Amino acid sequence: MTLYSRITGTGSYLPPRRLTNDELAAELATQGVETSDDWIVERTGIRARHFAAPDVCSSDLGVEAARQALQAAGVLATDIDLIIVATSTPDMVFPSTACILQNKLGANGCAAFDVQAVCSGFIYALTVADAMIKTGTASKALVIGAEVFSRILDFKDRTTCVLFGDGAGAVVLEASDTPGILASDLHADGKHVGILCVPGHVSGGNVLGSPLLKMDGQAVFKLAVGLLDEAARTTLAKAGKTAADIDWLVPHQANIRIMQSTARKLKLSMDKVIVTVDQHGNTSAASIPLALDFAVRSGKVKPGELLMLEGVGGGFTWGAVLLNL
Ligand code: ACO
Repeated sequence: MTLYSRITGTGSYLPPRRLTNDELAAELATQGVETSDDWIVERTGIRARHFAAPDVCSSDLGVEAARQALQAAGVLATDIDLIIVATSTPDMVFPSTACILQNKLGANGCAAFDVQAVCSGFIYALTVADAMIKTGTASKALVIGAEVFSRILDFKDRTTCVLFGDGAGAVVLEASDTPGILASDLHADGKHVGILCVPGHVSGGNVLGSPLLKMDGQAVFKLAVGLLDEAARTTLAKAGKTAADIDWLVPHQANIRIMQSTARKLKLSMDKVIVTVDQHGNTSAASIPLALDFAVRSGKVKPGELLMLEGVGGGFTWGAVLLNL
């Protein structure tokens, strides 16, 4: 009997248009919005982000990441029996981005649905896929985080528009006799809806309320650090491990200062933290699988090592997954 699920391949994709902080600052200056490379690097650690072309959707980015992950796992698209896409920037109101991506991939027929947990979306999606594999509902899953956050940014608001980018990351998760995913922990608290949201909704052919992201950065920062620490500790305890056992922390790539604070609380050196936020900014649900794929492909993270994946985002949502690669 299969007891576990295991990541057998990773992939990622960034759209070709890359903007450094200086390039973004120059574009924003033409609209009277003032920012600088120094401010962005000091407060966030971000140096560049990628923006998708106007006709490119989350499913387009996600399918590229999925193809890479399939290739790395040596699995055919037609062998996949479950696709979960974590996104807050879906292609359409409906059907799900997972259905659109499934058709582009040629995996027609398998179960496909989206998970909406903003920046924790990949942690939620991975946990759901793990549970479905453990109960025998699926055996080869594609779990994808894909976002085009550039579509929901207010480029007149310098406190948010410099933080986010577009991208996608993916993993193939397969049934296995050996672990695999050891433990996970998911939470949400809807009383914090207002500190990070895109409040608009479609009604009668119009968008009611703002379709652009708004955030209380300091409130998010304070909540994020405590909740990530809590989720990491609970997940470790469930697996009978301690922070000292962690080989690599692969956190949501929102802000280097949040990552540093989380690592400090767990008494982990920054040498054990995978950091890619400098290269692509905050890509929301895509950021954890993107960081994981970079770490795998660079040879930093090796098979058998113990990884803590953790995310926090709008909702407020948060969670962690502990796994052996
Ligand atoms: N360029 C230059 N100056 C800026 C910019 C900018 N892009 N943005 C804000 N400022 C100015 C402000 O106007 C303010 O100026 P003032 O003192 O004259 O009023 C000053 O910088 C300080 O602003 P604060 O908002 O206090 O800056 P803070 O140090 O809090 O940093 C930041 C803002 C980076 C957003 C921080 O609060 C943060 O990291 N929050 C976490 C939020 C986050 O990472 N969210 C990601 C999404 S959530 C998620 O993924 C979980």
